[in-house]
Amino acid sequence: MERCQLSEIKNQGGVMSAAESIIVPELLRSETDTGFAGVAALDDRRARLPTGTSVVIRDVISLIRQVAGHDSTVLVLGESGTGKEVCARAVHDLSPRRNRPFVAVNCGAIPADLLESELFGHERGAFTGAVSARKGRFEIAEGGTLFLDEIGDMSPTMQVKLLRVLQERVFERVGNQVPMRCNVRIIAATHRNLEESIQRGTFREDLFHRLNVFPIEMPALRSRIEDLPLLVRDCIATNLSEGRGRVQLSPRALGALALCQWTGNVRELANFIERLSIVCAGRVVEVRDLPPKYRPPLDWTLEIKALEDTSQVIPEEEHLTEETALSVLEEVELEREERKEASNKNATSDSLVILPEDGLDLRAHLLTIERQLIEQALQRSRGTVAQAARLLNLRRTTLVEKMRKLGMAQSGEFPPED
Ligand SMILES: Nc1ncnc2c1ncn2[C@@H]1O[C@H](COP(=O)(O)OP(=O)(O)OP(=O)(O)O)[C@@H](O)[C@H]1O
Ligand SMILES: [Mg+2]
Repeated sequence: MERCQLSEIKNQGGVMSAAESIIVPELLRSETDTGFAGVAALDDRRARLPTGTSVVIRDVISLIRQVAGHDSTVLVLGESGTGKEVCARAVHDLSPRRNRPFVAVNCGAIPADLLESELFGHERGAFTGAVSARKGRFEIAEGGTLFLDEIGDMSPTMQVKLLRVLQERVFERVGNQVPMRCNVRIIAATHRNLEESIQRGTFREDLFHRLNVFPIEMPALRSRIEDLPLLVRDCIATNLSEGRGRVQLSPRALGALALCQWTGNVRELANFIERLSIVCAGRVVEVRDLPPKYRPPLDWTLEIKALEDTSQVIPEEEHLTEETALSVLEEVELEREERKEASNKNATSDSLVILPEDGLDLRAHLLTIERQLIEQALQRSRGTVAQAARLLNLRRTTLVEKMRKLGMAQSGEFPPED
């Protein structure tokens, strides 16, 4: 797991007091602006930069600032929901084109045969249903930025046509032979690994090199989990501005959320906070209010509760300050590290199994070990067989079969989950 260590962050100056963490984005601005003549003059206040103060997100912000003032093509990469569009808009908003259109096209959502007219426009009668002439996105974006989202899903035919526009900066409307010159900055994005797509023959290598002039990789949320409190605060503010209720998270609940994997990244987090601001409007969300998926495994819940019972008596007015949240996250992280060390140690000492003087029944002994490990995995995953199977690096069906053999479950007790 690529989770960031809070202790490391602290050493790098990443853990700050609440006041410090609030002013950091401003500090970042003045520091980086002075480094890039031309960009410095651009109006920062209009740009919505990705939220966060982690080292990885600071690097992203720095790249956005560096490239914004140039017309270079940008390729934004990253898992789904990491903020690729947020990044693209920030590049546009910080660029000299910011008063011209930012036009986004989801290349994966438009059927291949319609994408050409969507991008380049068409003349009246160019195809059945073309009752009038229509501008394409390239024309609409003239002078501004065209954001080609999910570029990895573009058909091979369209890839050739796009390559030509990138090379020659001219295109033709469907049904017209007259070349039209365009002045558009291209930002493309994809959640796919384009190098793998090239290997598989589904993406053109020459187009990749045209797009990959200035790559920016949006980091997964789990690799910058220390940004969670700020992101939660942003999401709460967005919900408030959209008329939903005010919700607060206790530092313990925030600590629990920091243990989640967030495979859907910031989008998943934003959706989750929106749901909370409907069902928990006007109150403080505790760990027990979280849906099971977002609750830590049983042993972690106990640890988080232990924090609640001992040193961490946090007055309500301090809920969701970065300082209190980070101190809880830090304790949870320390516990996590200690737990990992202890379990590594156990694994090592358990591997030094000594054969008793008068031997043992190897088969029975191995079955006991197997049963104990399966029980622990099931306990840790709160009875979710698929999750327990992952902990044991087994297929779910293999685990179910083993459990049946060991008499740990009745046939049919575990319905298919994956
Ligand atoms: N750093 C961030 N700060 C604040 N909000 C963010 C950030 N990153 C993403 N979001 C929010 O998360 C959601 C997803 O962002 P965005 O659409 O940019 O992601 P994406 O990578 O393009 O996702 P997809 O791959 O699903 O298209 C949006 O609601 C966006 O406002
Ligand atoms: Mg997107």
